[in-house]
Amino acid sequence: MFPFSVKSVLHVLALTLLLAPSGVFSSLASPVLAGPIGKNCTIGSIHNGTATGRNISIAGVSTYLAEPPAAHIGKDKAKKVILFFSDVFGAFAINNELLQDYFATQGYTVLGPDYFFGDPIGLHVSPDLEPFDPNFDLNAWVAKSKKQADAAVPAWIDGVKKRYGPKAKYTAVGYCFGAPYSMETSATDQVLAGAFAHPGLLTEDHFRKLKKPFLLSCAESDSSFPLESRRRAEDILAEDHATYHVQIFSGTTHGFAVRGNLTNENERWAKEESARSVIGWFDRFTD
Ligand SMILES: *[C@@H]1O[C@H](CO)[C@@H](O)[C@H](O)[C@H]1NC(C)=O
Ligand SMILES: *[C@@H]1O[C@H](CO)[C@@H](O)[C@H](O)[C@H]1NC(C)=O
Ligand SMILES: *[C@@H]1O[C@H](CO)[C@@H](O)[C@H](O)[C@H]1NC(C)=O
Ligand SMILES: *[C@@H]1O[C@H](CO)[C@@H](O)[C@H](O)[C@H]1NC(C)=O
Repeated sequence: MFPFSVKSVLHVLALTLLLAPSGVFSSLASPVLAGPIGKNCTIGSIHNGTATGRNISIAGVSTYLAEPPAAHIGKDKAKKVILFFSDVFGAFAINNELLQDYFATQGYTVLGPDYFFGDPIGLHVSPDLEPFDPNFDLNAWVAKSKKQADAAVPAWIDGVKKRYGPKAKYTAVGYCFGAPYSMETSATDQVLAGAFAHPGLLTEDHFRKLKKPFLLSCAESDSSFPLESRRRAEDILAEDHATYHVQIFSGTTHGFAVRGNLTNENERWAKEESARSVIGWFDRFTD
């Protein structure tokens, strides 16, 4: 095992390699704004509750589906669909299931692809964040997962659009590992609005290329998206006259919107307010 400082250097190297070789968003010239997946992306509380969604397959990807209560489904109303790009624990981890279920109660059909293909990080890292498996190589897992997810997401989005049709109103939200997908989707006409919370794996280009209204739900102290990066992102959005909203929660750290400690009043409020804000933002552009 490397001491953590050496590991961090390796993470930065891994991120450089991850963001460098492929895709439209890989411009080598674009500085990194949200850092690599590290230990802070894997810590936090596990929530208790009973998930009410189901497991369906879209474009060969197992997908968590949470549907709104009947009262929300008016005959003449266009369906509202959230593409839910999860953190490293995956769309089928209980915290993410409960979050998707909440979005569904607010009138949205929510779809979370398992872009880890049955190998979420929870299989390797315990809730208190010590590796179960001493041989677990986080960087290798991230590199593998990013490659798989990059390859799967475009066809998955096409599959979602086939299933719900051109009249449905699509939005996208991403947490940590999922943030690039919400931003990349929001750089196209595939959605009406986007959002992220405590992002990872982003460069300045992600902000420059944004086309759709975007909500940034941020921790005060975020090792992946530190203050300087957040301010740089704000500068870019303002310069480009983007439509955006930035919210910051005091006393929170990376992961708060998914893995906050719900017995801590501040963390509970921040987690719930972040989710409410995502819905408020999406309602604004889909109602
Ligand atoms: C979740 O449930 C377990 C078992 O019932 C309990 O020990 C734990 O304290 C609960 N956690 C929270 C955050 O409520
Ligand atoms: C979802 O269903 C697929 C196909 O039956 C299965 O392979 C996968 O393990 C299921 N995922 C979960 C999290 O239940
Ligand atoms: C994890 O987050 C805490 C609180 O924000 C920070 O003090 C610490 O340096 C972070 N660790 C790493 C490895 O980034
Ligand atoms: C969660 O917060 C409560 C209240 O602040 C604290 O007693 C508890 O130790 C925290 N749990 C974890 C896992 O941090």
